[in-house]
Amino acid sequence: MNKVKEILEKSLEKISNAASIEDIENIRIDFIGKKGLFTNELKKLRHLPANDRPLFGQEINKAKNVFLTNLSSAKNQLEGKLLVDSLNVKPIDISLAGSNSSKGSRHPISLVRSKIEQIFKSSGYKIKIGPEIEDDYHNFTALNVPENHPARAMHDTFYFEGKKLLRTHTSPVQIRSMIADGAPIRIIAPGKCYRCDSDQTHTPMFHQVEGLVIDENISFANLKAVLHEFVESFFEREIKLRFRPSYFPFTEPSAEVDILWENDEWLEILGCGMVHPNVLTNSGIDPEKYSGYAFGMGVERLAMLYYGVRDLRTFYDNDVNFLKQFS
Ligand code: PHE
Repeated sequence: MNKVKEILEKSLEKISNAASIEDIENIRIDFIGKKGLFTNELKKLRHLPANDRPLFGQEINKAKNVFLTNLSSAKNQLEGKLLVDSLNVKPIDISLAGSNSSKGSRHPISLVRSKIEQIFKSSGYKIKIGPEIEDDYHNFTALNVPENHPARAMHDTFYFEGKKLLRTHTSPVQIRSMIADGAPIRIIAPGKCYRCDSDQTHTPMFHQVEGLVIDENISFANLKAVLHEFVESFFEREIKLRFRPSYFPFTEPSAEVDILWENDEWLEILGCGMVHPNVLTNSGIDPEKYSGYAFGMGVERLAMLYYGVRDLRTFYDNDVNFLKQFS
């Protein structure tokens, strides 16, 4: 019992002399660590007669608790003192400039997509979003794309098992919109598309904005006017357009639209045409009563022209220094 009392007194004295957090830790180890003085006393218990053990055990534990209480309050005091000291040595200079955390910026493709959406929204188009995982029916069949059409081939389309695929264009949203809402329709459908293709002007994932207008008495002249208006709003200047006869299974007649660029070069920017009667019929719209036009433009294409970017793939290299130029 005396030994325990002695150890406790010794420990309390050490605690009162502790000058640092390390001192506190060392004291803890010296007294209640594996080979600590209190620990040793506890170990000795088993050599005592069984009757005496509880009493001695209690005494040792009581002493140990006093030790622990003192140790932790000494530690708290030291920590408080250290904090005050550090504030005194290094007072906070509230006039210092903050350290900069760099802000991200919107991706150029996202910016261009918004710009396109804004232009169409302001002339009354609604925005319609369709799924990126499509089925064969909406992506091809309902769009009048024949069974043996090359776009259906494995090397263009990413197929899943079953009849699912990654949509190769935004045109399936035409079908979804017609089936869901019926005529009249005035929508654009922006979003991601996928084709197994990669070079300077193609990435496996790219963006399109689809347009679809269905109503009574819609003509090719309306389509021309809308697209001309759009292109000039987008590039914010007068631009010459050329409608070049083309072929899409879902439009008749079909055209590709070129714009006359600064270097006097004609550049293709979109595909369009009058919605094919088969497509209207497939989607439950009466082609005798309604007609419509559709167009699909490549967002990356427009972004490259708008920003003067030569290699489409740079949009997707995730080089922050490149991307932040567009914010
Ligand atoms: N879906 C066509 C493509 O991806 C573009 C298009 C859309 C053409 C609508 C005509 C009408 O190339």
